[in-house]
Amino acid sequence: MSERGAATDLGVTIAGVALKNPVIAASGTFGYGVEFEDIVSLDRLGAFVVKGLSREPMAGNPPPRVVETAAGMLNSIGLQNIGVRAFLEEKLPHLNKLRNVVVIANVFGHSREEYEDVIRALNDGPGIAAYELNVSCPNTKCGGLSFGTHVHLLAEVVGCSKRLAERASRPLIVKLSPNVTSIAEMASVAEQVGADAVSLVNTFVAMAIDPETRKPRISNITAGLSGPAIKPIAVRMVWEVAEAVKIPVIGMGGIARAEDAVEFLLAGASAVEVGTASFWDPRATEQIVRDLERWCVQHRVARIADLTGGMIAG
Ligand SMILES: Cc1cc2nc3c(=O)[nH]c(=O)nc-3n(C[C@H](O)[C@H](O)[C@H](O)COP(=O)(O)O)c2cc1C
Repeated sequence: MSERGAATDLGVTIAGVALKNPVIAASGTFGYGVEFEDIVSLDRLGAFVVKGLSREPMAGNPPPRVVETAAGMLNSIGLQNIGVRAFLEEKLPHLNKLRNVVVIANVFGHSREEYEDVIRALNDGPGIAAYELNVSCPNTKCGGLSFGTHVHLLAEVVGCSKRLAERASRPLIVKLSPNVTSIAEMASVAEQVGADAVSLVNTFVAMAIDPETRKPRISNITAGLSGPAIKPIAVRMVWEVAEAVKIPVIGMGGIARAEDAVEFLLAGASAVEVGTASFWDPRATEQIVRDLERWCVQHRVARIADLTGGMIAG
């Protein structure tokens, strides 16, 4: 409720999925949701995205695989996860018992067939609101080219995934890689082949070297940069994508406060995801929801959905 007693309507709808507010916990930073249950009131969030799921369990990269940077962090977790079958058997039944929570499954593979197998398996699992396709993954059948950085690979994996997601009537959100020349072009390709929404950005390829040891700070040498350091680039990319497509845009990259979320909404996002901030403060997502409501009341915003694309240029 607002300070004057009138509630701000924080609800948004993304590709037919109604969210009580636009704040979503980002994949890879919120476990499978269950790990945060005792810390965050999951039902206060718009939704959460589970750790990326692959066909087989993956151990990930050897340590060191996380390092703090100025205003951000580098990670090369290597997509460690329990695999889709263990998720369905060990995590989803518990998530399904929780009331008023929206679960989004993040999907990846090293070939088109692997993406398809994960979605086929998830289609049999109840209580999943949508799929988020992580296309920032190397295609081992194409010499390690990343799906999300090549138009034809992106079109193929999104088109095939969409046809399978449709069988379970689940919307497909395509999570775009920022490591491209034109992210707007990639978003348009995803839209043309059936994406119901796009989310952006994933991490930026980066690296750090310890001058004393002359060794890379991350065992994989290169890693993904996230956190406040990337926010201005992510806002620019969200704005470009929102101008280029008609489907909803979910923005992320360095959101740590309610004002950051507002910035992404004004750039054209309909909802936002919060990632790295949960490492600094595990309650960050819930706090951002509270502060966002307060911000809307203070700024006399009756419907948060009205902020989308509301930047006043010039
Ligand atoms: C440790 C870590 C693990 C991540 N794992 C995944 C993942 O499994 N799938 C995915 O799509 N994105 C993954 N991401 C990317 C985040 O979801 C998000 O796109 C990115 O970190 C930018 O948002 P942020 O600056 O708020 O963290 C991961 C990020 C971090 C920091």
